[in-house]
Amino acid sequence: MKLGVVILAAGQGTRMKSRLPKVLHPIAGKPMLAHVIETAQCLGPETVAVVYGHGGELVRERMQSYDVDWVLQEEQLGTGHAVQQAMPALQGVDEILVLYGDVPLIKPGTLERLIEASAETRMGMLTVELEDATGYGRILRDEYERIIRVVEHKDASPEELHIREINAGIMLIGREELEEWLGNVGNDNAQNEYYLPDIIPMAVAEGHVIASAHPDDISEVEGVNDRVQLARLERVCQQRLAEELMRAGATLVDPARIDIRGDVSVGQDVVMEPNVILEGRVVLGDDVQIGANTVLRDVTIGNGCRVLENCVIEQANIGSGCQLGPFSRIRPGTELAENCRVGNFVELKNAQVAEGSKVNHLSYIGDTSMGRDVNVGAGTITCNYDGANKHRTVIGDNAFIGSNTQIVAPVTIEEGATIGAGSTITKTAPAGQLTLCRTTRQTTIAGWTRPTKKEKS
Ligand code: UD1
Ligand code: CA
Repeated sequence: MKLGVVILAAGQGTRMKSRLPKVLHPIAGKPMLAHVIETAQCLGPETVAVVYGHGGELVRERMQSYDVDWVLQEEQLGTGHAVQQAMPALQGVDEILVLYGDVPLIKPGTLERLIEASAETRMGMLTVELEDATGYGRILRDEYERIIRVVEHKDASPEELHIREINAGIMLIGREELEEWLGNVGNDNAQNEYYLPDIIPMAVAEGHVIASAHPDDISEVEGVNDRVQLARLERVCQQRLAEELMRAGATLVDPARIDIRGDVSVGQDVVMEPNVILEGRVVLGDDVQIGANTVLRDVTIGNGCRVLENCVIEQANIGSGCQLGPFSRIRPGTELAENCRVGNFVELKNAQVAEGSKVNHLSYIGDTSMGRDVNVGAGTITCNYDGANKHRTVIGDNAFIGSNTQIVAPVTIEEGATIGAGSTITKTAPAGQLTLCRTTRQTTIAGWTRPTKKEKS
């Protein structure tokens, strides 16, 4: 059976009160629509058509990396009308699965169950019983428990409003039948919309039995209409992602206080303290410890590293056995080899540091190649920017940089060189020697006394 998927995403999303189209609002760092497209793609469909609406150019632009067919629905005349717009894009398929762009957490496994349940009947829908069914279409069944119709909340009688089984909106229908039935759907209802579920009585009249399948969890069929629901589903999604990490061997000290907004892979016995944020592609080796309030964005961290509290590490590679933080800021292009140490209030940018080197306190090291076993004293600054261009600093193996040194790039500190504290280095510091640069020699003023407070008269 060739499967086509249509994702309805043309709704305005007025209640979001946002300039951003609703389906672009992120969950776990990724637009809701991207979640739905990826889930659809898990099913191996022939075609995925996305119905987008007025002002949806931004949606197409942001989703351009996805291989989908875009279908414009100029006016939002209802779910039936929306699906009808997509029919030309779905010509080659046998059956059509309808998904919603604002129901982001539906799982592939649930959709597979729906597809299986509908294999013979060529028509099935996801339904679920809710404590509070307000706003949803209610499922009407006959005396044999067969689905006969969906009645929208706004069209329902007082008795029908008591029904707790609802239409999740997700349906599977044979393409040929769907095409025919859609042509007969009218808009004579409370909202003057062409309702997709109105094909159900037509199917029943033709002798179809409508299969139903159910999600594992209600959150799978929950839609996002406002930012309160968005935040709720964000937490649900985070809980799922946190569980995946824990199953992969990570200890999350509090799984309710982690934010995963990308692809994270962990080795064994990784430990994360609360409020860690992981973004983009994050790869953590075995025995890595991540301290509280740390942000990791597109980073690889080797085995046995300890990242202490409050670090921000972005687009960097950290070799095994390193220790960073607390309060280290590692910026793009930084590469640390094994067993380096970067301490508090240290900023590294595009710095390549060989093994065993240490920058422990209050320093800025940018555009720098640093050898192995270098010791950088507190308050060292590479002056890499002359106001127009960036320049590189090269520091050889075993160099020792005294505290409060400015290194004015481009400049080289050779292997084994020692720089006296408080120097401003502008020329090559030769290998193995002490170089220092201070404007005055230390003097002591004989007979100097500290000022004293004046007596008040
Ligand atoms: C729909 C169902 C209802 C079900 C509920 C589940 C209909 C008539 N009703 O109601 O039975 O319980 O979903 O959440 O189908 N959309 C378009 N173009 C349109 C209209 C809607 O693309 O012209 C998209 C929306 O962006 C949204 C989805 O279709 O993603 C559902 O539309 P919405 O207006 O939210 O339908 P509901 O009234 O919630
Ligand atoms: Ca809705």
